[in-house]
Amino acid sequence: MGWPRALWETDLVSEVTVAILTRPLRYTIISSEVSTGGLLLNAPDDLIPAGPLQADEPVSLFPVVEVTVYSYECDAFGHLNQAAFLQVFERARWEMLALGPGPDLFDRNKVWPAVRRATVDYLLPVFPGDVLKVDAEVVKVGGTSLELRQRAVRAKDDQVVAQLHIVFVTVDKAGRPSPMPAEIAAVFGSRASRAAETVRFGVSDGVLAAELRGDGPALLLIHGFPLDHTMWAHQIATLKGWRRIAPDLRGCGESESPSGGYSMAAYADDLVSLLDRLKLEKAVVAGLSMGGYVAFEMLRRHAERVHGLILVDTRAEADAAEARAARETLIGVARSEGPGGVAERMLPRLLGRTTQRTQPHLVSQVREMAGRWSVAGMAGALGAMRDRPDSTPLLPRLDVPTLVIVGEEDELTPPALSRAMTSAIPSAAMTTIAAAGHLSPLEAPSAVSRVMAEFLEAVPRP
Ligand code: MLT
Repeated sequence: MGWPRALWETDLVSEVTVAILTRPLRYTIISSEVSTGGLLLNAPDDLIPAGPLQADEPVSLFPVVEVTVYSYECDAFGHLNQAAFLQVFERARWEMLALGPGPDLFDRNKVWPAVRRATVDYLLPVFPGDVLKVDAEVVKVGGTSLELRQRAVRAKDDQVVAQLHIVFVTVDKAGRPSPMPAEIAAVFGSRASRAAETVRFGVSDGVLAAELRGDGPALLLIHGFPLDHTMWAHQIATLKGWRRIAPDLRGCGESESPSGGYSMAAYADDLVSLLDRLKLEKAVVAGLSMGGYVAFEMLRRHAERVHGLILVDTRAEADAAEARAARETLIGVARSEGPGGVAERMLPRLLGRTTQRTQPHLVSQVREMAGRWSVAGMAGALGAMRDRPDSTPLLPRLDVPTLVIVGEEDELTPPALSRAMTSAIPSAAMTTIAAAGHLSPLEAPSAVSRVMAEFLEAVPRP
């Protein structure tokens, strides 16, 4: 798979996915994102990995390097401790410099980056032989200081194992703070990108929230039930070149919970208010499960705002009688036991059987997301899903590029449903994600982000 893109382009290109060189040594470049220069290479088969992200995290624009952990780096307990992580992060930084402006960047400018403060968040144990993918992001460039954040992701399971926040001061030979030379400021300044931000926007009966990240044409990511926008963390972090917009629907996450007014129409109108607020005429709309039902409603009510469609683990049919009855039961559970009760009833079928065995931490992540729903929001969403219209008549009329994604172990909206939906849409493609269930973007984040990126690449710019 090749994604030809220009590397070392001019400043006109603010976010470019590029890269790939493979080194015979212990570092392998996975990918890099730069905004200055001039070569043409093929981009990676792998996207920049990411785990759960901080809300204020800036976009990574440095090469991601792979670092193998050796036994001599590990402590008496046989694992890489917090202090050793500092060295791993430092190794990765030098490699990144070597791949970009050169390891002599500081020497040739006659200053040295003295570390003034470094904090390692040690998240998971790492052992000899583990391969870590390390990225780096510029948080701030000051007159004499430089602030970076680095993250180490374990290659075999995409888990974030440690994060580093580090502040450097440029000093002269005598150790005195020295103004940041222009070349260094340009190197790091050019890599600072629009940080993630949360926007709040008013609708008729409350204030809703959405996470925004990156620049480019709009990609609206609509979460499922009982989840919130954080289920898209990997896609928010990696789908560069797109303005990623991940709202919390009314009733959950950081959005307010009006006491009523829950329907597919209200969700769709809320999202159009968000696009209006951001002055965006159109967006590619991606929806997971209930998010897909909302996407269909947007197509019914506001088709002119939808520029492309990504239907993830969802279905076009309305609820049959049995499903409607099950919604009623769950509304009762939401009212009597709260969101946790609903999550427990749904969890066994939300995550695929492989994920439940191999990624048990995702169970807690889903519980946390469900815990950010209000009772009104949950009962409202269940009622909205129960009453949603049949969207199958819409399928043959869809005239936007469409991608259907489904986890091969999805029990709630199984692959057969997605196949039928895909063949009913004139120009749709379908991808099945191995070893993932109903929450494929969360369970197999790299695979889903990759197929989304490939699809988005082909969507004509609005
Ligand atoms: C979802 O993931 O959004 C729900 O499973 C949708 C549904 O229950 O129909």
